[in-house]
Parts: sequence; C-alpha cells; structure tokens
Amino acid sequence: MVHPIVKLFDPVLEREAETVMEFDTLELHKLLADMFESMYAAKGVGLAAPQIGIARKIAVIDTSVGENPADKLVLINPKILRLEGKQTGEEGCLSIPGFREQVTRAKRATMKAQNAKGEWFEMTGEDLLARAFQHEIDHLNGKLYIKHISALKRDLIKRKVKKLVKAGEWK
Ligand code: NI
Repeated sequence: MVHPIVKLFDPVLEREAETVMEFDTLELHKLLADMFESMYAAKGVGLAAPQIGIARKIAVIDTSVGENPADKLVLINPKILRLEGKQTGEEGCLSIPGFREQVTRAKRATMKAQNAKGEWFEMTGEDLLARAFQHEIDHLNGKLYIKHISALKRDLIKRKVKKLVKAGEWK
C-alpha cells in the first residue's frame, strides 16, 4: 500500500524515532513492503518510517530506484560507525518536495543496522549510498537535510513552504 509522504513542519519529522524491538513479524514485513512501494511511487532513493508518519527506526534505501533488486536495503535501528572524506552535491528530500540544495556529507559512511529478522550487519557505502545512509539515519534522529545548509538558506525554504501551506498547496 502506498502511503502519503509526511511533509516539512509535521512534528513526526523532527523527533527521534523509537527503537524497533520486535522482528520478523507479519506487521514489520508488511510495513517494509509498504515503505518500498511508497518510496518507488514517490521516485525516491530512500525513505524513513517517520516520512509515512511512523516514528520507528526503520529506513529503506534503493539507489537503483527499483532497477536492481540487489540494491534494496532495509536498515532497522541503524547507527553510523565511521565517516570518511567529503562530497558536496545536490540533495533533496521527499518531505520537502520542490527544493534541492548543495549539501556536504562524508564521501564514505560505514553503518551497522538490523535486518527484518533482527540480525545485525555492517555496510560501507560510497558517494550516493553514503549520502543515503547519512540522510536516512538523520531522519530517524529527527533531523532533516536542511539542518546541514546555512541558516539563511534554511529560513528561505521554510518561508517559501509556509507560503505554500497558506495557499493550501503543501500536501
Ligand atoms: Ni529525506
């Protein structure tokens, strides 16, 4: 089932999500399937559960946007272990549609996470995958990518979004 994406100014996006304690349940598998479906429908490379209004530490990533099943990743209770190097590139978020900004992130990110069965695994991503790890794990900690840009640019985006909200065009 495709869920609507929660947008900027919804408080669920700005608080830390809850640790997942139960694994391999029908409910969890259904939620993961829904998250992939919702991410593909929105044409994103990553989606965090708070973005569909569920404050739990779960994210899905697919840098191939549905082209390569081997690229499908489920991160539950993920933690960054190591960040190395730097990359600067355009970044956007399904929760802030219509905006993109240059964001500097680590070039290589190593994280550990649990899979749907609760097993821990470690993975290192580079470039886009490293960016996705950092972006999605930030979401689970209540942090949006605009936290990484200048206050001036961030306030400009917020002002523009507030205008859209007023006009009823922020859905
Ligand atoms: Ni995002």
